[in-house]
Amino acid sequence: MPSSTPRSTPRANRSSRIAGFHKKSPRERLDLVAAFAGLSDSEVAHLSDFGNLAPDLADRLIENVIGTMNVPVGIATNMRIDGEDVLIPMATEESSVVAAVCNAARQVYEDGFTTSVSGNLMIAQVQAVGVSDPHAARLRILAQREALRTLCDACDPVLVSLGGGLRDVEVRVLDSLGGAMVVTHLIVDTRDAMGANAVNTMAEAVAPHIAGWSGGRVYLRILSNLADRRLARAQAVWRTDAIGGPEVRDGIVSAYHFAEADPYRAATHNKGIMNGIDAVVLATGNDTRAIEAGAHAYAARSGRYTSLTRYEVTASGDLSASIELPLAVGLVGGATKLHPTAQACLKILGATTAERLARIIAAVGLAQNFSALKALATTGIQKGHMALHAQNIAMMAGAVGEEIEAVARVLVEGHRVRLDVAQDVLAGIRRG
Ligand code: MEV
Repeated sequence: MPSSTPRSTPRANRSSRIAGFHKKSPRERLDLVAAFAGLSDSEVAHLSDFGNLAPDLADRLIENVIGTMNVPVGIATNMRIDGEDVLIPMATEESSVVAAVCNAARQVYEDGFTTSVSGNLMIAQVQAVGVSDPHAARLRILAQREALRTLCDACDPVLVSLGGGLRDVEVRVLDSLGGAMVVTHLIVDTRDAMGANAVNTMAEAVAPHIAGWSGGRVYLRILSNLADRRLARAQAVWRTDAIGGPEVRDGIVSAYHFAEADPYRAATHNKGIMNGIDAVVLATGNDTRAIEAGAHAYAARSGRYTSLTRYEVTASGDLSASIELPLAVGLVGGATKLHPTAQACLKILGATTAERLARIIAAVGLAQNFSALKALATTGIQKGHMALHAQNIAMMAGAVGEEIEAVARVLVEGHRVRLDVAQDVLAGIRRG
């Protein structure tokens, strides 16, 4: 970005302790930050443009706001999920992610994706320590199931009126570094909410009672992001002749075997899946970190980190693929309800329940993974990736308008997608 007059404070005089920073307006904070960091007028003007998120709303969503970080929203086409065509809004800064979903879905459009969920159950944990008889304490807590239900349901009458509330109680005795620990799980149907606030409130409400029943001291009272009572599943069968033949199919299966066997590969394999999943989670204002944490913990549930997807060859020789992972997403609460972009994206998706949203997201994760494995097992990912990457490099070199395409084409054709090359090519174009 071109910079004009810097507004700098001498480095030695800078302090990050700014009295009352949180009480100031976004613009006042930005001016202070500009002075601290020596931002130019054009950088300040850029940051003070909040785009399509009202400054007042941004200022209420998080603390100490000075601006917004815009990420493109692209639409994945060709998706048919449980017999219904869906357009998928995806918010991501990474090139090829949207194209990957479109391509995978196009190759299975006739049959589409089939999905399901295990339920909407979230888990909140209450940790009790210093319990002298942990196994007996476990039974004392389990005997209070009805009391726990009354306490939990009283925290959220609206949730109960919508059919949600406490469903079950589990108590585990953990052998920890600090000795036996009694951990109570409150298992709560949170309906169309992600449910973090609901279950955390419940955990805090029951904590003094659990301390009493266990005879121990309660410390942590918080949800678990390993939401394994809220699994979403998707499957699809890619016809072998639609994906390039048996060699391509076998390459994809072998790529899956690699990820299944090796955590180094599984981490990258699952990262690709999360490229798709996070993009829809973000577009709908849901919590990407919660989804990431749940996915990776679930991938390691056997004690060995492995693939979130599976690939098999059907009796008729086609490629059967499936995915299963926790997807604690909601339609109500937090940014999903408040952020106008999230609301518009939900409308595009046509998801009217959290369950449907989770199912769509699982299908996107599977589509993403199929495309990545197909590319990796055949031409490699760089070919497709480089076309878009070259455009970014062209823009970084200063290309504008039609120059971007022209510079990118030369970079790709010459197999040299580098900034210095882009600068030379651009200079050449401008010289005529
Ligand atoms: C890149 O963001 C994602 C991939 O590395 C995924 C994979 O390797 O399966 C292409």
